[in-house]
Amino acid sequence: MSQITFTDRVVAITGAGRGLGREHALDFARRGAAVVVNDLGGTGAGAGASASAADEVVAEIWAAGGRAVANYDSVSTRSGGQAIIECAMDSFGRIDAVVNNAGFLRNKVFEDLGDAELDDIIDVHLKAAFYVTQPAYRVMQQQGYGRIVFTSSASGAFGSPEQTNYGAAKAGLLGLTNCLAWEGRKHGILVNAVLPTAGTRLAKEMSQQWHEEMVGDIHPDAAILAPTNAPSYVTPVVVYLASEQNTATRGFYSATGGRFAKVVPAVTHGWFGPLERPATAEEIAEHFADIESDEHGYDLPENVIDEGRPVLARRLQQTGSASVGT
Ligand SMILES: NC(=O)c1ccc[n+]([C@@H]2O[C@H](COP(=O)([O-])OP(=O)(O)OC[C@H]3O[C@@H](n4cnc5c(N)ncnc54)[C@H](O)[C@@H]3O)[C@@H](O)[C@H]2O)c1
Repeated sequence: MSQITFTDRVVAITGAGRGLGREHALDFARRGAAVVVNDLGGTGAGAGASASAADEVVAEIWAAGGRAVANYDSVSTRSGGQAIIECAMDSFGRIDAVVNNAGFLRNKVFEDLGDAELDDIIDVHLKAAFYVTQPAYRVMQQQGYGRIVFTSSASGAFGSPEQTNYGAAKAGLLGLTNCLAWEGRKHGILVNAVLPTAGTRLAKEMSQQWHEEMVGDIHPDAAILAPTNAPSYVTPVVVYLASEQNTATRGFYSATGGRFAKVVPAVTHGWFGPLERPATAEEIAEHFADIESDEHGYDLPENVIDEGRPVLARRLQQTGSASVGT
């Protein structure tokens, strides 16, 4: 197995002053990358700012013989995103990979969600991904090479209570991954998302506010997974996706409990309504179990056009049958 290295590569990691981002930064640096350690240094709820988080990680990297520079801009503004990538260009002359990782939580039940919870969470998780990635993408386009990793969440892909703001932002990153991967591939820019689990400050914030019915679902022997709470159990997939060795794009990769897996948007074979007229709502009710059924497996469309291919193929298979609507 060839060693994954980042010699002469420059990687920017947002929110790298603690938690997952810190672990990513240390590993990229160990593997030879010059690293931009971005962190605003605020609280777990996104208040305040401090240079110390980013500074400490940069000091750790230099002490271990690596190369890094600190950046304290907020990812939540367009100017902040621009400044992070300018920091990479000014300090190291290029940008090869961006790991969008910064963020915080403001959990609240939906009926009480105000602008302070909505706007700031959408800004830091979703809009920030545009603000930071766009200036990097333009440079990557010119050089014909780039790797983008977004940090999504199981809350966005699968759901959790009291996180409609966060889940919507994190699911938005999956849409961004899907679409940007299609644009990026012709420029050598590969775009993927990770769905991590780690016992960071952010996760502690979440568990305090966790909904009773979800806590009830946790297995009594869940403690055996405790070692895998370390952020280092997530970093390997991020480093791989950001590396030259990676050839995958438009993928969502879960890292939970030391298990790495692909998360896919899947479509059941469904129920085919009549061709000659639209189905009725009553027919939908009658066939709802068929629509939901995974008995025949799933289609895994790669884009909006691809979704239609099996639909046409199965329609054609039905040609000659007594009724296409049954
Ligand atoms: N820990 C988990 O289980 C988990 C699960 C799913 C997704 N995530 C995601 O992983 C990412 C990292 O989270 P973590 O668990 O390491 O949390 P963390 O709180 O340990 O680290 C997040 C870092 O982001 C920084 N940050 C916050 N707002 C910023 C801003 N505007 N600009 C720059 N930096 C900012 C913080 O200062 C902090 O250092 C987040 O996007 C989070 O949503 C984490």
